[in-house]
Amino acid sequence: MNKFSFFMPTKMVFGPDVVREAGAGLALGKKALIVTGRSSARRSGALDDVLSVLPGEYVVFDQVENNPSVETVIEGGKVAKEEGCDYVLAIGGGSPLDAAKVMAVLAVNDAHPLQLYKDGWQNRALPIVAIPTTAGTGSEVTQYAVLTIAEEQTKKGLGGPDLFPQVAYLDPKYTESLPLDVTIDTAVDALSHLVESYLSQRATEASELPALQGIALWGTTIPALRKKVIDREARAALLLASSLGGIAIAQTGTALVHALGYSLTYYDGLPHGRANGVCMPAYLEYTKTVAPERVDTILELLELPSLAAFGGLMHELFAGIGGTLQLSAETIEHYVTKAMLTKNIKNSLGDPSAEDLARILSRGSDPRS
Ligand SMILES: [Fe+2]
Repeated sequence: MNKFSFFMPTKMVFGPDVVREAGAGLALGKKALIVTGRSSARRSGALDDVLSVLPGEYVVFDQVENNPSVETVIEGGKVAKEEGCDYVLAIGGGSPLDAAKVMAVLAVNDAHPLQLYKDGWQNRALPIVAIPTTAGTGSEVTQYAVLTIAEEQTKKGLGGPDLFPQVAYLDPKYTESLPLDVTIDTAVDALSHLVESYLSQRATEASELPALQGIALWGTTIPALRKKVIDREARAALLLASSLGGIAIAQTGTALVHALGYSLTYYDGLPHGRANGVCMPAYLEYTKTVAPERVDTILELLELPSLAAFGGLMHELFAGIGGTLQLSAETIEHYVTKAMLTKNIKNSLGDPSAEDLARILSRGSDPRS
């Protein structure tokens, strides 16, 4: 067995009504900065549950957009400072959760977000409570926050041990109000975390446990995802699979699928999970050439007979919501150049070259593949 460390300091509380049951224990301080998107926290019922039991004061920052910008986190950090908030309570999908983490840093550090990428930060971020309303990001159990950096024309992850939320409350009912396309996009994001972690250079005996368990659990939801009728049981499985994916990538990071997907989101507007899903079939084919047993294990756990069946599944899930792209050779080269600069590439098995990435991206953008 190899040497490894495994760090996941977030307390997870999973099941129906866990937020209401937490009662006054939901508060980690005297005054909360509640961070949400523009609608999902209200639509899901999560915000009402929080406000019905939260003791102490709070201020709501509900202006987090999809793929949050530097300006948004600066604004939220300023509100936290001015209002004297001593903890952050994040409700929503990956965007509010990630934005809230950076606000928790900016509330106690005088720095521009771009500086945080370069120099890190001095003062420990405010403690964070995370309540996901999508089953995909895994951010509720990771030390990462991904922001959109206009200056660099990409999405970029920031990481630090104090960005692990102190507590994550996971109630599958909050995902029931999600539109179908968001449910599918986020589910595929969760799968990409699990798969990329299992196929990572940094995978260890410990990180593989949540990854493999999560892939198997995700596999049980395939019939519901295919039918596009996602019942409560499937939603619970997806939410747990998503958190297991978060626990896994907290140890290993993501790999080339995320590196390529960031450009498909930034330039082509594909939702994050769909951008990953578009690249995953060709990524698995590539990885099969360097680690065939690992790819076979994934297929077995998903109960899919072949890589072609995996590609067929992605195609089927995205049918009708748009999962194909036509990218020119020039665009592919541009995206590959950007991806090669990321750390994620080094996590991928097989030491992929720019040519390998170009092949994966061109397969992903070919509607016949
Ligand atoms: Fe992701």
